[in-house]
Amino acid sequence: MTQMRYAVPCLFGLEGLAAEELRRLEMENVQAENGRVLFSGGPEALPRALTWLRTGERVLIVLAEFPASTFEELFQGVCRAPLVDFIPRDGAFPVKGSCLDSRLMSVPDCQAIIKKAAARNLGAAYGLTWLPETGATFQLQFALFHDRATLYLDATGPGLHKRGYRAVGNEAPLRETLAAALVLLSRYRGRETFFDPFCGSGTIPIEAALIAKNQAPGLRRRFAAEAFPWLPESAWRQAREEARDREFHGQYRILGSDIDENAVSLAAANARKAGVGDLIEFHRADATREPLPDQAGILIANPPYGERMMERQSAQRLYTALGRHLRGQAGWRLYLLAAEPEFEHYFGSRADKKRKLYNGRIQCNCYMYLPGQNKGGRK
Ligand SMILES: C[S@@+](CC[C@H](N)C(=O)[O-])C[C@H]1O[C@@H](n2cnc3c(N)ncnc32)[C@H](O)[C@@H]1O
Repeated sequence: MTQMRYAVPCLFGLEGLAAEELRRLEMENVQAENGRVLFSGGPEALPRALTWLRTGERVLIVLAEFPASTFEELFQGVCRAPLVDFIPRDGAFPVKGSCLDSRLMSVPDCQAIIKKAAARNLGAAYGLTWLPETGATFQLQFALFHDRATLYLDATGPGLHKRGYRAVGNEAPLRETLAAALVLLSRYRGRETFFDPFCGSGTIPIEAALIAKNQAPGLRRRFAAEAFPWLPESAWRQAREEARDREFHGQYRILGSDIDENAVSLAAANARKAGVGDLIEFHRADATREPLPDQAGILIANPPYGERMMERQSAQRLYTALGRHLRGQAGWRLYLLAAEPEFEHYFGSRADKKRKLYNGRIQCNCYMYLPGQNKGGRK
């Protein structure tokens, strides 16, 4: 196995950042599309991508791509895929996937056809009429889009947002990949003061600390691809050694606060679990009253947003109070993630830049207030 094509699905709006991360890792032929980024590389690219990616949701190996507007085309396409190069004779190969804007729109039917075709394909390759599936799991994943099928092998296991530090979340924790994306958007590299005054379970300051010290987010977890027999143990060792070698051990000023005492304790516990407990100071405070720290820096937060009417009104009142409070404080660059379409109205000023992002299925904007910067126009 020499060169392979990989796909990194990501939350809508994060494709550009994930592509930038992959280019920094010196991956080849990086190509951002809607909802995913493709790249090429040998098998050793896989442990590096899994260990380092902050904004991608998972890493998949592209096994085959072909037109499939009928079940027969789908079946034959999977029969031709090079499954035997990836799945050993005892490997379990469950199938999951999605259909969008295609003639084949039944996920369970496509799943059943792909399972049958994969069993036929592997059975013929191994000379077996019945495949035991007693070994490690090789999760097959498919996507049908505009009558084209893509068949993938998942290399990740639990999604990449599961860094392992947030076993317990608070009520509305931000996905780790999105928190990292906000920090990358701000270009924070550990030099300025960093503050999240609505820290909840601590995701944003923790991701900021991981970025400041260049700690690979996947260093402390395991991946499905560790069971792939064709991926040498040395590739994992090298990726992890590289990650440890690249860590910095500097002094940072990273702060998080929340009005809820329980959230503050939870955030501190999560930071310790992530290995950055000594880098972040957490405290209890009302973000609409507490003065910002003396030295200006970067403030990133996702304040509460209400989905029900009453909650929405109280979120709107909070944005107004926050706007009044923050507008008086000079020098800070603010990055506020909110789903409220009239956020700028309630906050009381127009953002210098806006970026559309998705928090799961909820469409949000990151409102950026960037005093004294070359703003490059509103997006
Ligand atoms: C959407 S959650 C933030 C989630 C967080 N980013 C995480 O990943 O867990 C909003 C947080 O704001 C806190 N909060 C609400 N009103 C506040 C206020 N006036 N000052 C500070 N924190 C407040 C809530 O307790 C909650 O933890």
